[in-house]
Amino acid sequence: MNILLVYATNSGGTQLASQIVQEHLMSQNLQVTMKEVRDTQPEELTDADAVILASSTWDYEGLEGQPHPDYRPFMELFKGKKITGKKFAVLGLGDSSYTYFCGAVNHLEQFVKDLEGILAVDSLKIDGFYLDQQTNSEKLASWADNLGKTLVK
Ligand SMILES: Cc1cc2nc3c(=O)[nH]c(=O)nc-3n(C[C@H](O)[C@H](O)[C@H](O)COP(=O)(O)O)c2cc1C
Repeated sequence: MNILLVYATNSGGTQLASQIVQEHLMSQNLQVTMKEVRDTQPEELTDADAVILASSTWDYEGLEGQPHPDYRPFMELFKGKKITGKKFAVLGLGDSSYTYFCGAVNHLEQFVKDLEGILAVDSLKIDGFYLDQQTNSEKLASWADNLGKTLVK
């Protein structure tokens, strides 16, 4: 099983969170390649057995609750395309003091739906990653363990 973990980050939280997920999936003998979304080509999603999309949430051109801006051009590349039946999982980092807590997750879930992909597990929303790294790392580990088990079923 070849998993592609696509991420974007501003202050490093989503990268660290993605590394925790990668580590836990790899401990289940799954192959996980991490790539920044700005370096990812559409064919790489097509080729992977499963794809994890990870993003923090930001304002974009006056709109609140958006995925990291690097996701914009990436999502544009898929306009009108389908990867029917492809397995996906979505991971979001945010801060619940904002109106649209982890708004990026909703956008990425819609992206998966538009591609006719399948969400393998419920998406994970991490609140204030750096404020309680211990608890959040445990949440990420448990999500990754469950994802790994679901993917190999
Ligand atoms: C200008 C700004 C806007 C933000 N907007 C939101 C938001 O709408 N919803 C949310 O959940 N978090 C929001 N956040 C919080 C970040 O998503 C959060 O700090 C995240 O952990 C950053 O991840 P990163 O380290 O990967 O960049 C915002 C943060 C900043 C500085």
